[in-house]
Amino acid sequence: MMYLLDTANLKDIERAFDLYPMAGVTTNPSIIAKEKKDFITILKDIRKVIGSDMMLHAQAVGTKAEDIIDEAKYINEEIGGNFYIKIPVIKEGIKAIKILSRSGIKVTATAVFTPEQALMAAVSGASFVAPYVNRLDNISGDGVRVVDEIVKLLSLNKLNCNVLAASFKNVEQVHKVNLTGAQAITVSPEILDGLINHPLTDWSVDKFIKDFEGVYGKGKLTTYNR
Ligand code: E4P
Repeated sequence: MMYLLDTANLKDIERAFDLYPMAGVTTNPSIIAKEKKDFITILKDIRKVIGSDMMLHAQAVGTKAEDIIDEAKYINEEIGGNFYIKIPVIKEGIKAIKILSRSGIKVTATAVFTPEQALMAAVSGASFVAPYVNRLDNISGDGVRVVDEIVKLLSLNKLNCNVLAASFKNVEQVHKVNLTGAQAITVSPEILDGLINHPLTDWSVDKFIKDFEGVYGKGKLTTYNR
């Protein structure tokens, strides 16, 4: 499982990369716009925090293949490291995915809502496909089923493409998606914390500390006698 953080907020990125086994950061134009700073500056700042080995996914906004390709080359050149250009699975996007993946620029196909969109993007050379789980659930679709079918289709076709499930609003969606065998998820900082939070864990830790301190003294750790 690869865990990615779906944000451009530097404080949230620093915290998550400090605490959790992160594999990268995903952004989209809406996430970037929230930061109200220069686009490339935001990505460069994120790259500084996560280092060059970690994945950084950023999206092109053009709707013509030639614009998307131009954006991809520009951002890839400016940001460097383990970079993925996110391209929506519109027709011109598929054309851009074919051309860019052949030229060695790594692509994440995004705004994926059907298994067939994912399959075509993967056959076109995308390294990741990103189905949006909650946006499907919100219109009475079944986001988890779509991810499950994508995982099966990519595997049946022996495609070298990973599923990066996106758009989550709760931990249960993430859990069900993880059971499909999707290789990666991208989540908000809140959902990431939610994956590990449990009141009984907190209660147990408090009790362990209280019992230990009752005998060995307040604030003492197991190293107290070193
Ligand atoms: C995926 O790459 C998108 O950035 C994202 O997960 C969409 O999430 P939303 O539906 O919460 O906006």
